[in-house]
Amino acid sequence: RPDAQQWVPAGVGLDELRQAAPSCRGCELWEPATQVVFSVGEPTARIAFVGEQPGDQEDRQGKPFVGPAGQLLDRALAEAGIDREDAYVTNSVKHFRFTQSAPGKRRIHQTPDRVHIEACRPWLAAELAVIDPEVVVCLGATAAKALLGPSFRVTKSRGQLFPRLVADETDSGAVQNGFLMATIHPSAVLRAGTGSSDPEQAREEAYAGLVADLRVAAGALA
Ligand code: URA
Ligand code: SF4
Repeated sequence: RPDAQQWVPAGVGLDELRQAAPSCRGCELWEPATQVVFSVGEPTARIAFVGEQPGDQEDRQGKPFVGPAGQLLDRALAEAGIDREDAYVTNSVKHFRFTQSAPGKRRIHQTPDRVHIEACRPWLAAELAVIDPEVVVCLGATAAKALLGPSFRVTKSRGQLFPRLVADETDSGAVQNGFLMATIHPSAVLRAGTGSSDPEQAREEAYAGLVADLRVAAGALA
């Protein structure tokens, strides 16, 4: 299966990765999207947040987590004591996947399939290798599948720290370098009230759960 690998320059820094991303044709998602949405954050960031894919606002603005989910994430980060300057924010899939009944109609978010996650993973691997953060936080199931494996269940294992394994430069083995964690996606917090008898209460509980998990991640920073 084709993937992004041939468009990902090897041995380069973050700026070069960002410059190369618009040319990617690793899967079909580039075509209907407005633009690639890469990441925000400095190469020195100590904590990385990995979402699912850009949403409607992100696709228009070219930046991750600038829409409603991003606003909720910003609030939760502040509450968990995580400095935005310390944070690198990216997505598992770099183009917006959506359906649209006709041109000009509302674009409806479609969850990326496993093929899109796999196709786009070379970008995620390359950027995380450059940033080399102490802690990587997967926001939701898509990021958790990309980084913790297809059988990972966020509902079961959220808020737990797992060793982040990276290739050892001196032999062919792997060494632990910091931690990986998964938590609920900010969009799931926004949806949490739907269908409940007390939507406000359900949303507040979901939000508190996100903040609690983010505090665990913050506590894992050296
Ligand atoms: N949801 C995501 O997963 N990523 C974004 O950038 C915006 C919303
Ligand atoms: Fe490339 Fe990822 Fe966009 Fe697919 S979604 S075209 S793999 S950048």
